[in-house]
Formats: sequence, C-alpha cells, structure tokens
Amino acid sequence: MSAPHISVLLREVVQAFDGVEIKTFFDGTLGAGGHARAILATHPEIVRYIGCDRDPRAHEEALKTLAPWREKVEFVRGSYSELPDILKEREIGCIQGFLIDVGVSSMQLDERERGFSFRGDGPLDMRMDPSASLTAENIVNQYPEAEIARILFEYGEERRSRQIAKAIVAIRKKRPIRTAAELVKIVEPIVGRGPIHPATRVFQALRIAVNDELGELERGLEAAIEHVSPGGRIAVISFHSLEDRIAKTAFRKHEWREAKRGREASGSLKILTKKPAIPTAEEIRANARSRSAKLRIAEKIGG
Ligand SMILES: C[S@@+](CC[C@H](N)C(=O)[O-])C[C@H]1O[C@@H](n2cnc3c(N)ncnc32)[C@H](O)[C@@H]1O
Repeated sequence: MSAPHISVLLREVVQAFDGVEIKTFFDGTLGAGGHARAILATHPEIVRYIGCDRDPRAHEEALKTLAPWREKVEFVRGSYSELPDILKEREIGCIQGFLIDVGVSSMQLDERERGFSFRGDGPLDMRMDPSASLTAENIVNQYPEAEIARILFEYGEERRSRQIAKAIVAIRKKRPIRTAAELVKIVEPIVGRGPIHPATRVFQALRIAVNDELGELERGLEAAIEHVSPGGRIAVISFHSLEDRIAKTAFRKHEWREAKRGREASGSLKILTKKPAIPTAEEIRANARSRSAKLRIAEKIGG
C-alpha cells in the first residue's frame, strides 16, 4: 500500500488563484488530485477542470479524490506540454488557470517496480509514462560515459559525476546494470555517507533525463503563456534549481515592462512572485519532500 501523496504549498497554490473567475482550469500534473480538490472547492464557478498526467495510475487515485466533482473533471492521459492539442481537441480556446507541480509523486516513489526510488530493488525504469521508450536502464547501459557524466552533473548537481560515470561503464562491460540496488551499490562508495542518501542526486538526474522534464517544462510554460486568457494565472511548483530557473526565465521573457506600452502590453505577464514562495518550516517538518519546493505565479495582462 503506498503512502498518500501530500500536496506541497497547498495554501499558497489556492491563494495564487484568489479572485480569478475561472471557467476552465488546466492542471498539468494532476497526480493524486490534492491541489485539484482544493482548487475545485474554492472555485465553485469552474465549469471544466482538465486534469492531465502522464501516468495512468495517477488517474485511479485522482478519481477517488475528486469524486464529488466528477461532472467537472476530465482526465487526460498525456504530457502537459501537449496543452495546445489537448485544448484544440476539446474546442477550448483559452483557460483561466494553469498549474504544474513537477516531479514525481509519493505513489510513484513507493512503487518499487518502477525504479524511481533508490530504496528497494526495482528495475531501472523511471518512466512516468509506462508506454514511453526510454528507460533509466537504457541510459545507464547504452549512453556514452561523457553523456552519463553530463546528465549526473547537470540534472543532479552531482560533484562526483565523472567518477560515477566511469564506474558505471566499468561495471557494464562485465554485465548489464539492471536494478536500482545495483546502481546504488556502484554510487554509494564513491559519494559516501552524508545528510541525504548517497544516490539521491544520481536517481534525480536519471529521472529528469528519462522523462525530459526540463524540455517539458519549457514547452509547457510557453504553451500556457499563450493559452491563458487576460486576468488568468499560471502557477508553477518546481523542486530543482534548473526547473526554477526555467520558470523564472519564461516569465521574465514575457514580463510586461514600461517599454511595452499600449497594444504590446496585451499578452504580456505580470509576475506576482518577485521571489518564489517557499514552504514554511512547519510544512517542511510535516513533509520533507517539500523542502526544495518553489512556487512562481504570473498573471496574463491585457484584454
Ligand atoms: C508531484 S505529483 C503532482 C501531485 C498533485 N499536484 C497533487 O496535489 O496530488 C507530479 C505528477 O505529475 C506527473 N507529471 C510529471 N511530469 C509530467 C508531464 N510532463 N506531463 C504530465 N504529467 C506529468 C507525474 O506523473 C506525477 O503524477
């Protein structure tokens, strides 16, 4: 039985949409539907709540959480970067609310056979969408050493990336590396003990690469900025400095500035979080996964 996912920055996410008249909401990372429940409860005016997730199992969970709003919620299995097509297929012109809470859910981490966690002996899979073709096993056993080192360094900020990549290549010459436990065994002696599990950064890096999480975020935010109507808002929760930088850059690129007077202002963004919102000490105590969360919010201007 997996632990229920605790939604991060829940109160702050609800506040992000305060005062917005929402007809259609797009939740790009529905997960277990925790944020969705809170948003639907505070916005009875919502007519359609599109809940998108790559992971078909998320929908089973969300179905239970969102039972009282069954008529309003539409589950979409897919990537949030496909927002333009998802809206087009449903003949929806624009949305008034867009939320993404990127990364993995507690349910995904707890399902050992999916290999997201360094605890356990699942296969090195890590696909959020089980029908996608690239797995962590492919990366570890087939990618060139330099590419593995780059992934570990860039996406995991792992200082010992080159040493780990070298060790991976040495082992795979003898036999393929197939499980999370086998990978942990390679990483542990190189990284050594510290405040977090020695394989944390390696697993995070592989997961980001397998699911093209940074590319998704860039494309998804551009699509959101285009499809949110004036007065509507975009909220992004990220867990990694690279993700936060992508959100900040995307918002800044479209930010309304004095220079963009008149008609040009329409379609620009007003950034509502000069600094991202972060969890309180109390939230971090109750949910360690929230410790690196950052929430950025922007509002579409114009009319
Ligand atoms: C942190 S959980 C979301 C939790 C949810 N907000 C809640 O309160 O229950 C992230 C979810 O987003 C999904 N996900 C991650 N990247 C995605 C993407 N690019 N497109 C669609 N779903 C994605 C994952 O499968 C996972 O279920």
